[in-house]
Amino acid sequence: MYSFEALAQQFKSKFEVKHFPQEPASLYESCDYFLSIGGKRVRPVMCLMGNELFDNINPDAWHVATAIELFHNFTLLHDDIMDAAPLRRGMQTVHTKYGTNTALLGGDVMLVIAYDYLNKIDRNYLHKVIALFNKTAREVCEGQQLDMDFEKQQTVSLDAYIRMIELKTSVLLAASLQMGAILGGAGEGNRQNIYEFGRNLGIAFQVQDDYLDAFGDPEKFGKDVGGDIRQNKKTFLLLHALEAASTTQRQELLYLMDTNPEDKVQRVLQIFKDCNIDEWAKKLKQSYTDKAMQHLDSIAVVSSRKMPLVELADYLLQRES
Ligand code: IPE
Ligand code: IPE
Ligand code: MG
Ligand code: MG
Ligand code: MG
Repeated sequence: MYSFEALAQQFKSKFEVKHFPQEPASLYESCDYFLSIGGKRVRPVMCLMGNELFDNINPDAWHVATAIELFHNFTLLHDDIMDAAPLRRGMQTVHTKYGTNTALLGGDVMLVIAYDYLNKIDRNYLHKVIALFNKTAREVCEGQQLDMDFEKQQTVSLDAYIRMIELKTSVLLAASLQMGAILGGAGEGNRQNIYEFGRNLGIAFQVQDDYLDAFGDPEKFGKDVGGDIRQNKKTFLLLHALEAASTTQRQELLYLMDTNPEDKVQRVLQIFKDCNIDEWAKKLKQSYTDKAMQHLDSIAVVSSRKMPLVELADYLLQRES
């Protein structure tokens, strides 16, 4: 059984190969650039872990892991356009470096190449894996649309926020684990439980992402801290603040969202702090982590095999980048 570190290392070295043709360089350079600037490679590792929970790593799991990471990078290229983000992984985003149209095509081509990798796997699994991959991809699009729709709304319910982050983020983490489990020959019950483990953990992961977007260390986070506030994203931080704030603070928040003054981020952050956001963030993360752990407990394999997944959960929730 491999640890997160060991699997991430193995995946990173396998992933370093050339994935794209040479010409036109104006397109493929942008793709190579993006894949070369790092990333934690969480999802492919989850696929490998989901596989290893049930059996020795199936060689096909490397193809599926590669497809998943390419898909994830495709979503990031498009997401950074949608979010007008200048920075990613501590570097310039593709659309600011190469232009929006190239970033769109770069994302598109990554998605297409992802299917080339899926196409390499054994026919016995192909149908199940593609069906899950496609369902997940559709859900990510739905989540991303909701995320943008919410920018224009003054507030949304906590339930609507959770549903949105489930779609845009957590289903891909869940599916990564489940695809690995499928390749490991897991039965239906185990496949369900590992999916639910990933879905709940993925919600906690996005909660952490939203927290870091406001309070992260810019050096470590690698993205533009305060970006969600500038974009009026309906994160749990804002939803909680709107609920917990005094009447004056609430009016100030609404005013800031409406007028986008220079000092918006600083002023919103102060209100977040005044509303004890740290404590609320911890509670929210913990409640989803607990649910995730219950599903992990329910998986019918000896608990020593589950250790890498426990370690993964800790890593994801304590991450600073
Ligand atoms: C970023 O995902 C997008 C979210 C769903 C929050 P990661 O935090 O896994 O990004 P990289 O791949 O490590 O850069
Ligand atoms: C991204 O959510 C979800 C997807 C890329 C599908 P965010 O917009 O919060 O991700 P970051 O913070 O830009 O990585
Ligand atoms: Mg974004
Ligand atoms: Mg986004
Ligand atoms: Mg974010």
